Amino acid sequence: MTARPPIACLGAGRMGRGIAVVFAYAGHPVCLVDFKQRSAADFARLCEEAIEEIRDTLRTLAQFGLFTQAMVEAITARVRVFPMASSSSALGEAAIIFEGVPEVLDLKRAVLAQASTLAREPIIASTTSTILVDELSSAVERPGRFLNVHWLNPAFLMPLVEVSPGTNTDPAVVERVKRLLDAVGKVPVVCAPRPGFIVPRIQTLAMNEAARMVEEGVASAEDIDKAIKYGFGIRYAVLGMLEFIDWGGGDILYYASRYLTGALKSDRYQAPDIVERNMREGRIGLKTGQGFLNYEALDREDYRRERLAAFAALLRHFGLTQPPVLPTAVRQPKVNRKRRATRPNARPPSRRR
Ligand SMILES: NC(=O)c1ccc[n+]([C@@H]2O[C@H](COP(=O)([O-])OP(=O)(O)OC[C@H]3O[C@@H](n4cnc5c(N)ncnc54)[C@H](O)[C@@H]3O)[C@@H](O)[C@H]2O)c1
Repeated sequence: MTARPPIACLGAGRMGRGIAVVFAYAGHPVCLVDFKQRSAADFARLCEEAIEEIRDTLRTLAQFGLFTQAMVEAITARVRVFPMASSSSALGEAAIIFEGVPEVLDLKRAVLAQASTLAREPIIASTTSTILVDELSSAVERPGRFLNVHWLNPAFLMPLVEVSPGTNTDPAVVERVKRLLDAVGKVPVVCAPRPGFIVPRIQTLAMNEAARMVEEGVASAEDIDKAIKYGFGIRYAVLGMLEFIDWGGGDILYYASRYLTGALKSDRYQAPDIVERNMREGRIGLKTGQGFLNYEALDREDYRRERLAAFAALLRHFGLTQPPVLPTAVRQPKVNRKRRATRPNARPPSRRR
């Protein structure tokens, strides 16, 4: 097996530790570099705490059956923690440095400036959730190698990683980061440097709407969450959101948006121009062969069946299917209940009052 390149994380907090688990699990040596001024005793405590949390996370993943407990120590041993004073070789040898210090612009800029001087070669990625790449890149020496790489928490479980290059980012760097993430089993997507990346931007709207429905007494928190788990969420595990518009038809979205804008007297339901334009130009989705995505080259029946099969597999996984009701004379095969996974909402937590 070829040696996996070393990875460095600046900051040994939640994000740094989560990323360390991902790369150590995938066979990379990982250096967590602490850039905060602290006493030797404090640093020793931080090291112990970080390594113990990483070990603990791995033990939990092993308990979930992802690998055997016997491998936990070997994976944990791939992670080491360095203080700033002895960080230059760790940073210099890394293929990529993930900056994960607190969400404070000046602090991030100072840390990135210092790290980029210490490390001449590596790609440098900020894990910031809210600061745009171009607000940080001028602090970095050779900013062509700098970009934002936004992980979803917990980083060691969530497959998606949002990669956001800035004006100065070298496109070859984006490709290298995507390959690196691919190789450790993540699913990278690229997005422009706009606030909220992709997931936080969509989920903030949806979360506020769910909260608003509780406030307006539309449904209980428990029922809204049930609707999300069994309706909204489960659907989007199989179909993307734009793909789903194409399934229903962009015209449906247009009319639903118009209706809700009027009925709820709120512009937040207004469809963007692209929905009306697509409709006017006949790109309403599967029906016309083109919508947000292009289906012209596909056998649409095969494609539809493949997506429905994925949906059925998901329902089976969650124990959400049941056998048909047959005439009493016909014996029904036994359902293998052992293979059932936990329902996503078998017993919902009760609402805090
Ligand atoms: N936690 C999340 O859910 C999440 C999700 C996505 C992105 N992020 C991003 O990850 C980054 C880090 O967040 P986190 O949750 O890991 O934070 P955290 O507080 O858990 O960790 C921050 C790390 O920075 C160190 N630090 C604190 N002050 C410092 C200083 N003055 N100089 C140098 N280092 C210092 C801390 O010791 C710690 O190791 C942020 O940019 C955040 O937006 C976090």
